[in-house]
Amino acid sequence: MPLRLDVVTIFPEYLAPLDLSLLGRARREGLLDVHVHDLRDWTHDRHRTVDDSPYGGGAGMVMRPEPWGEALDEICSSVPGRTPRLVVPGPGGEVFSQEVASRLALEEDWLVFVCGRYEGIDERVYDEFAARYPLSVLSLGDYVLNGGEVAVLAMTEAVARLLPGMVGNEASLVEESHTGGLLEYPVYTKPASWRGHEVPEVLLSGHHGRIAAWRQEQRLARTAQRRPDLMARYEAGSEARP
Ligand code: ADE
Repeated sequence: MPLRLDVVTIFPEYLAPLDLSLLGRARREGLLDVHVHDLRDWTHDRHRTVDDSPYGGGAGMVMRPEPWGEALDEICSSVPGRTPRLVVPGPGGEVFSQEVASRLALEEDWLVFVCGRYEGIDERVYDEFAARYPLSVLSLGDYVLNGGEVAVLAMTEAVARLLPGMVGNEASLVEESHTGGLLEYPVYTKPASWRGHEVPEVLLSGHHGRIAAWRQEQRLARTAQRRPDLMARYEAGSEARP
């Protein structure tokens, strides 16, 4: 069964890249079944209004609950016998990681992405739907985007490339499962000398043991320099291992 993705947004055209490249291939190969919806299709006024000012005052606008309620009622009940997981991208969520991507790719068969805009969605929408469906709020990282659409593109790409049956992912999946929490080593191709920059000698040696040792050193050095947070976790983990 393909992984079904529904995306609800006020900017459906933002999701056009879902037809491109890896995601397009996954769709064509029948691994992904993507449905993009315009939230305004569930409004009933002439201006197709989706937002209003916040109770209690403050800057910006809040997305009204009614269009979200009607949209999610309809979409989430559109496949008899199946229950989706709702995914709400937002800076206040659990950080989306490779581990989360892999869990979504391997354990879920239907994701409904809820793209908020403005200052956010009326909190009662979460209360209502979290009581009826599994719901995850997921953040790309500690910065603020204007809405969830770009996050949906990032998340769906990370998930799609891990889908079982995605051509070409077998070898890279094996490699990723062995990354062991470190950053990747640097890679080189021909020519061996370019603008005075040389490919490290060891990679030309043909000595597989020395090459593997060099790559592991590079991974440790890079991780220590660029991601001390990952390094700390890696060191704690290797102490725990026998
Ligand atoms: N929407 C706004 N900011 C976001 C973030 N950092 N991650 C996911 N969705 C968002």
